[in-house]
Amino acid sequence: MKTQYYTATSLDGFIATEDDSLEWLFALGELGETSYPTFIVEVGALAMGSTTYEWMLRNSDAVVASTGSAWPYQQPTWVFTSRKLALIDGADIRFASGDVRRVHAEMQAAAGGKNIWIVGGGDLAGQFYDHGLLDELIVQVGSVTLGKGKPLFPRRALSPKLRLVSVQQLGGMMVELRYEVQNHTAGER
Ligand SMILES: NC(=O)c1ccc[n+]([C@@H]2O[C@H](COP(=O)([O-])OP(=O)(O)OC[C@H]3O[C@@H](n4cnc5c(N)ncnc54)[C@H](OP(=O)(O)O)[C@@H]3O)[C@@H](O)[C@H]2O)c1
Repeated sequence: MKTQYYTATSLDGFIATEDDSLEWLFALGELGETSYPTFIVEVGALAMGSTTYEWMLRNSDAVVASTGSAWPYQQPTWVFTSRKLALIDGADIRFASGDVRRVHAEMQAAAGGKNIWIVGGGDLAGQFYDHGLLDELIVQVGSVTLGKGKPLFPRRALSPKLRLVSVQQLGGMMVELRYEVQNHTAGER
């Protein structure tokens, strides 16, 4: 069981524009042509921030077009927010706030031995990283730059924290990079 931050990013490190548009991403290809189908079957629980959740509420047409359903996840999903947000009919959504450690323990218990997917955004993934709870970063880097936007991972992860384990070209517009997070460096345990 691993906790994975799996996301697409622009070449200059943004996962969405400043106004939360993903049009640049949809222009890069179909989900089915990426590692997503094999990734998602190993996922037992998801976490996302409220901006990501509200993007899905606002863009249900685009979500249906790319996944076939307005809420494409069968797995329980924790949405981090300090506000009261609308629920989606039929979706297993649990609202959470504050320290991610308690929520991570709940997610582990619910995931049935499968992986935990931190969907985004970058700071939420960073909160899990801060507590040594993030095991992998799996990033599809698109061949576009945005100049500014929502950051991929607003943390300083200096060597030797991230170990590159694989590089895979996905057509002519994307490359997938997989990193293991070294949560315990020599002498720390
Ligand atoms: N490129 C991709 O593949 C990809 C993947 C995922 C997301 N995205 C997009 O990237 C953007 C991400 O937006 P974002 O960076 O603003 O991040 P986000 O993580 O989706 O949302 C951030 C918000 O979540 C709430 N939150 C986060 N941590 C919390 C905690 N511990 N306790 C309580 N509330 C907490 C806060 O809002 P409140 O308390 O005010 O609710 C915070 O402002 C979205 O547009 C999304 O659609 C892109």
